[in-house]
Amino acid sequence: MIYFDNSATTKPYEEVLDTYVKVNRDFYGNASSLHNFGGRAESLISKAREQISNLIGVKTSEIIFTSGGTEGNNLAIKGVALKYRGRGNHIITTSIEHPSVTEPCRQLEQMGFDVTYLPVNKEGRVSVDDIEAAITNNTILVSTIHVNNEIGSIQPVKEIGKMLTRYPKVIFHIDHVQGVGKIPIDLYGSYVDLCTFSAHKFHGLKGNGFLYKRQSILLDPQVTGGNQEQKLRSGTENTGGIVAMAKALRIELLDQQNKSDSLQKIRDFLFSELQKDPRIAIQSPQYGAPHIVNFSVVGYKGEVIVHALEEEGIIVSTTSACSSKDNAPSSTLLALGINEKIANAAVRISLSYENNIDEAKQFLKALDEVLERLNKVMGRNK
Ligand SMILES: Cc1ncc(COP(=O)(O)O)c(C=O)c1O
Repeated sequence: MIYFDNSATTKPYEEVLDTYVKVNRDFYGNASSLHNFGGRAESLISKAREQISNLIGVKTSEIIFTSGGTEGNNLAIKGVALKYRGRGNHIITTSIEHPSVTEPCRQLEQMGFDVTYLPVNKEGRVSVDDIEAAITNNTILVSTIHVNNEIGSIQPVKEIGKMLTRYPKVIFHIDHVQGVGKIPIDLYGSYVDLCTFSAHKFHGLKGNGFLYKRQSILLDPQVTGGNQEQKLRSGTENTGGIVAMAKALRIELLDQQNKSDSLQKIRDFLFSELQKDPRIAIQSPQYGAPHIVNFSVVGYKGEVIVHALEEEGIIVSTTSACSSKDNAPSSTLLALGINEKIANAAVRISLSYENNIDEAKQFLKALDEVLERLNKVMGRNK
């Protein structure tokens, strides 16, 4: 099987699975328990927190463990909105966010908040000037995706953060779920206050993630109960998943150091070969993230291509995994000004450091064969 759906989820590293099993077998105590056995689980979590904070260059106390990207985004957005509502009720975001940002924003609108959804250009980038122009005395939060999960466009996070330093009352959140290990981020240097991470996008396990929260920022907790995670996220800690996540992040960031060039080469090869094919339109920007290529075979729905490729042993997807069964064209593609027919035909290839150039060649060959076959069945010429 050739697995090209890494933006939906990645294959857990063997070391991650081993760690998860070992921790759950040997250190299954509750990290909040008084006894030493629970204390050992607590120590493992503290160590993982320290490793993660060192890897991303922030303070250990600034890491809040969550169940993943959806929870991290909800905690950041609703947490800020509800904590700082006395300061203002206006939020700025973009029109190409993941649903785990858009939906909390819609929920907040129903509670009386104002949300501005800024447009993006054809390359899928929001303008820093547009963000600045949208700021009012009531603005409390700017939230933007870093790397778009469908097309791989990269937002100018550093420039946005720098501009926001002129507006000290505005908190800056980024959704870095697709950027981890692919697009470097300097959280302090980009003046980011909150940043969402999800383990299963970097070969960790589903159901684990973390939110970086600058020390000075306060949040309204969204999951309340036993007061774990600095009272910001209650619930018995998933010790095995947390320790495994620290391991996954270390390996992913090491791969980023050593394998970035080869990943970029695979992406460039796929991009240029698909670009040459007159049957294909490419939605991803040329200089987007090194792991995502979104394209359409004009005249065929994306799902037809996805199923036909799966029969050839190649796994790709249509839009993001959570929207792919909605049967509606992707709102991200529509926001780029792409027409509905092309948007409905969209197919996403998403790579990881585990992929190689031979797989890319096999993919192109299989795609060509699939299109020949479909064209024959439909009675179309090449
Ligand atoms: C950009 C982005 N943000 C958030 C999420 C949600 O993450 P999780 O699946 O961990 O809830 C995803 C998942 O696809 C994503 O791509």
